[in-house]
This record gives sequence, structure tokens and C-alpha cells, in this order.
Amino acid sequence: MGSASQGTYVLPEATAPSLVLAHPTDTEKRRTWTLNHREWGGALTLEEYLKREPYLTTIPLTRDGGMTHWILTDSSWSADSGGNRPVLASCESIRKRVLIASPSDNTVHDGVGHGIGSVFTYPEFRGNRYAARMLNELGPALRKWQSHGRDAVCSALWSDIGKAYYAKKGWAVFPSLHVEFPVSTNRTEESGKDKVSPITYDNLEPLCQRDEQLLKEKLLRTAQKTNRTSVAFAPDHDTLRWHLYRDDFIASILFKSTPSPPPPQETFTRGALAGPEGRRVWAVWSRNYYGGSSSGSGAPADNVDKNTLYILRLVIEPESSEAENEENPSEDIREAFTAVMQAALREASRWHLGKVDLWNPSPTIRKLIDSGGLQHRWVERDEDSIPSMMWYGDEDVRNIEWVANEKYCWC
Ligand SMILES: CC(C)(COP(=O)(O)OP(=O)(O)OC[C@H]1O[C@@H](n2cnc3c(N)ncnc32)[C@H](O)[C@@H]1OP(=O)(O)O)[C@@H](O)C(=O)NCCC(=O)NCCS
Repeated sequence: MGSASQGTYVLPEATAPSLVLAHPTDTEKRRTWTLNHREWGGALTLEEYLKREPYLTTIPLTRDGGMTHWILTDSSWSADSGGNRPVLASCESIRKRVLIASPSDNTVHDGVGHGIGSVFTYPEFRGNRYAARMLNELGPALRKWQSHGRDAVCSALWSDIGKAYYAKKGWAVFPSLHVEFPVSTNRTEESGKDKVSPITYDNLEPLCQRDEQLLKEKLLRTAQKTNRTSVAFAPDHDTLRWHLYRDDFIASILFKSTPSPPPPQETFTRGALAGPEGRRVWAVWSRNYYGGSSSGSGAPADNVDKNTLYILRLVIEPESSEAENEENPSEDIREAFTAVMQAALREASRWHLGKVDLWNPSPTIRKLIDSGGLQHRWVERDEDSIPSMMWYGDEDVRNIEWVANEKYCWC
């Protein structure tokens, strides 16, 4: 066990009974962000990153306590010990709505799930199993966290350190396939422009509602077909807006200082929609800039090859009612899909993003991609953003169907 006297703190064993999961003070959060800016600052300077992190607790989904900061610390120190309490490991969780269907049910249930992000150990404390201890405490703690007296359904994280570390601690690995459409080798045709309409903050909410309705039907079908419990994170308005607000915050900083003036901020569309009501295809997306210098900061155009337009969620409207269409999409759906992807490529090109990425497309969408004319590459990620889930129900997590395992779930 660590000694609590300041200046002579002896690092405790990770198994020490005095180590506890706690919530950091504002000073401790700032210290942690200062250290992990290198990991997650992206194209932001430290100063900008220190503004973004508190901002992320004020937006849809994460405001009003939707986001929780956690640390592993030593209970022999009090939180008000002048900012000197040891922060042995840290992370965040975000409360999310999940939808679940079991094979024996005719209805989809709403539950609580938690996304986990920013798992971090200060460099000087690494290799002592502190992150492991924190995660071993956090997994069970989240089962009861903010879930209104019931058990949460699951917690999920997106590992950037491969497939083994979190799996050993109970977060099982799920598919990490994506398809990448390079902007440079795809002709972004202007001719298809009139086939799509933009998605903006104004028309997003009803699309999210429709998406959730379709997804619930799909969950029921999946549970019946596979005879397995099926789960999805709700692609609801708050969840989608969390990504869009985050994107806006970063873009508003990056494009203020960029030397070549970009298109005005207002003109960035949040997605595109094609096809008539009842047979629509739409995608909602966000931007990711990686920066140019070794410290991460830089102008948006510094790292175009890596900069990515992520499709957060792709919806095909008939997927709900015409199950046979999952295997053989019709011609109008093919056209609508191509028009939406062309719009994504055009938007990527305008905003210094070298590629468009879509995570874990459904079988229908895979067919559309493979039989369509767009240049693309399939990527099985082994190291980064590996979707990983801890299941709090009775079932073995390996028997859970994670439906719509797309980028909108990420945090
Ligand atoms: C990953 C991290 C949180 C581990 O913290 P820690 O307290 O040293 O972790 P532990 O002592 O519990 O475990 C160390 C293990 O992590 C592994 N690890 C650390 N960084 C890794 C990486 N980039 N890739 C793969 N494994 C890694 C070590 O090899 C070691 O493996 P072992 O258990 O087989 O010996 C810490 O290295 C860190 O903060 N890294 C930078 C931020 C980061 O990448 N976070 C993870 C985001 S998903």
C-alpha cells in the first residue's frame, strides 16, 4: 500500500485495498487532459483541447451528468489535498440508450448502456497494472451506474491498443470491418447532385426517429432469425448531435486559422438523403482532422490523406419491411445509395478530407458497395477502434448480436 505522505509517495501495488475508483476534481481533470492531449488532441493545440474537453460535458447526450469522469486513486488521500492526490489511471463513461430484443419477445426494450473512452495512465505510472485495476473496478460499477435501480445492459469501448487487452478484462471483441472510399480516385460527379437533399440540424430529428423505428424492427427480425439476443445503441437525436456538435467545435477552431479560406461553416452538410418517402437512403456524417505536426496541432489541409469523413449512420428505408431486399437491393435503392455516397465524397473533397469511411456495413449495403461503381477498399482493423462489449445480462457475450455496429456508437 502506498504511503500517503506528500513527496514520499511510494507507488502501491495495483492490488492494494486502498486503491479505489473515484471522480476527479476539476484540477485533476485538467492535469489529465494536459497529459493526454498528445493522444487525443488531434489537430487541436493543447489550449484548444483544454477548451474542448469541458465543452463536451455541455452538449446533447453528455450534458446534465450524461458523461462521468473516473479515476483510480488512493483512498488514503483526500480529493482536496491541494491537487496532489495520485491519479493512477483515468477514463470517462457516457450514458447511452440501448435497444434490446430477445428471441422470445415481440417487443424491443429500452435499457441503459455505457460507452467508455479515454482510458489513460500517466506516463510515469504505466506498466503497474493500474489501468487494469481501474477497468476491473469500472466494469462492475457501470452495471449499476445511472441505470435507475436496474442493471445496465452493457458497456462498450473502442480499443486503440489492439484486440487482446480489453478482451482479457471482459470486453469482448466485435467486428471491426470498414470500407474506405478514397476521394482522389473516385470521380465526384456533379450530375448526381439533384438526386440528393442535404441533412442539416433542421431535418435531422425526424430522420433519427424513423431510423430508430426501422432499427427496432430489424432487432426483432435479427433476434428471431439468429435465436440470439440482439442489441443496438439507439441512433437517436442526442447521440447523433453529440458527434455533430463535437465536429462543429473542432472545425470552428481549425477553419478560423486556416490560411486558405474554406467554404463558410454553415455550408457543411451533416449528411445526405435520396429517394422518395418510404424508399429513402440516407447517411449522417462527421469530419475528423488529424493535424500535421508531431504535437498533433495543425491546419485542416495538413493531413488530407488521413483526414476522414466518417459515415456515422447509413439507413436504407425498406430494410425494415422488405426483408428480401436485404439480399437483393432494387435498382432505385442502388441509385439512391450511389447518390448519397457521391454526396459524401463531394463534401469530403470540399473539406480537406481524403476518404470516406463506413463501419460494419450491413449485408445489403455490402452488396450495394460491391456491385456499385465506386472505388473502395475493405479494411479489417486490428489495432484501433476495435468495438468491444461487456454484457451485463445472463447471456454469454459471444451469443449477442450487436446490430448497427457503426460509427455513431463510438465515443
Ligand atoms: C494503454 C494504457 C492505458 C495502459 O496503462 P497501464 O496502467 O500501463 O496498463 P496496465 O499496466 O494495466 O497494462 C499494461 C499492458 O498494456 C499493454 N499496452 C500498453 N500500451 C499498449 C499499446 N499501445 N498497444 C498494445 N498494448 C499496450 C502493455 O503491453 C501491457 O500488456 P500486458 O498486460 O500483456 O503486460 C497506457 O499505456 C496509456 O495511457 N496509453 C496511452 C493512451 C492509450 O492508448 N489508451 C488506450 C486507449 S483505448
